[in-house]
This record gives sequence, structure tokens and C-alpha cells, in this order.
Amino acid sequence: MLTEQDQMKKAVGEKAATFVKDGMKIGLGSGSTVYWMVRKLGELVDAGVNIEGIPSSKQTEKWAQEFGVPLTDFREVKELDITIDGADEVDENHQLIKGGGAALFREKIIAQAAKELIIIVDESKMVSHLGEYPLPVEVLPFAWERTANEISKLGCVPKLRTLDGEILVTDNGNYILDCPFNKIPDPDQLNKQLKQIVGVIETGLFIDMTTKVIIGNKETVTVVE
Ligand code: A5P
Repeated sequence: MLTEQDQMKKAVGEKAATFVKDGMKIGLGSGSTVYWMVRKLGELVDAGVNIEGIPSSKQTEKWAQEFGVPLTDFREVKELDITIDGADEVDENHQLIKGGGAALFREKIIAQAAKELIIIVDESKMVSHLGEYPLPVEVLPFAWERTANEISKLGCVPKLRTLDGEILVTDNGNYILDCPFNKIPDPDQLNKQLKQIVGVIETGLFIDMTTKVIIGNKETVTVVE
């Protein structure tokens, strides 16, 4: 029995799959909403649709294998037709906070490589201003304490992410600092400031990348361009 939230995630994941067409190369995001989209893509493949995906995390790679979605990589593919991914926050301009699942670096690569970025969320992710969700920032393990100190000068107290009492290590061998800014008045400027800090690999701010947001609520699914 699915929870109400899982039903919304399933609905938006499956709706996103309707934008996938034969012959497409697809960026596969990460997270529990993406799970439903990958599952649906598996059904399309079973029905004879010819697609290939590039996963943004080891977890998504496993799901793609489980559901029979053929995979490729950037040695074979220069550009993706579409990337479909979840988000932790989406503001009114469709700027995003991502990285709750620690996959933000590869997610940003597949987002930038795609002609279209479709974001799939339940309505709880829609906000007027980004920042209530602590911003994930991927940093180099070397001197992460110094990097955290530099980030703190921008107005937050970064927290090193742990999992089961151990430091969380990303698929890329890096650490995540969760940065509670509370309210981010200018996401583009903050992203640029963070990227100037040596030691910051990538931020969870996805600026001017989204082309469509698919939002689920209890009754319906809405596609916003
Ligand atoms: C992974 O790093 C994130 O960017 C996810 O896309 C985001 O956390 C959304 O995940 P859910 O769909 O599980 O909420």
C-alpha cells in the first residue's frame, strides 16, 4: 500500500516518462521520485521503445539494471535529449536546491548535458524562496574544515553530512556540507560565490537549468513550463 506522498511521486514519475520518445538519450536523476520514472522507462523498453540512459548515481544505475533500461555513458554520447530528476526545493522561477541524496555533482552534469531538464516533485517541494532546506555543497575531503570555514563567511554554519555515524562519502569520493542559509535572496549570486571557494566541487543550486516542472498533489499532476 503506497502512502499518499508515494502515490504523488509515482504519478509525476510516470507523467515524466510520457515525454520520452523513441531514440532518446536520457539523463536519469536520483532519488525516490526518480525511482518511479525509471520503473516506467523499463515498461517502455519492454514495449519496444529504444532508449538509453546515463545514471547520476550508483543507486539509479542499479534501478536501471533492475528494470531493464539500457545504459550508456559520455564516451558514447555527447548530448542528452532530456534529463529527468527530482529536487529538494523548487522556487517560483524554477531555480532548484538539489543534493538531498548526495548525488548533486553528477546530477548537475547530466542536467547541463541535456537539451531539456524536467523536474518531478510533489507539491511539498514548491517554495517561494530557496533556503529552508539546508543547501548541500560537495567538497573535497582535503581541508574540508577550511572550506567549511570559508563557506560560513557567506552566512551559515555548514554541517558535515554523516550516515550511520560515519562521514558520508559521495559516489565521487567527496564529502557533503549541508549549509542552512534559511533564506537565499539571490541564488545565482550565492552559487557563484560558493564556486569561487577552492575546495568546493559543486553546489546543490541549479540555476536557469529547468525547462519543465511536473508537480503532483493529491488530486492531479500539473506540468509547468
Ligand atoms: C539527490 O541528490 C537529490 O537531488 C534528489 O533529486 C532530491 O533529493 C529529491 O529526492 P526525492 O525524490 O527522494 O525527494
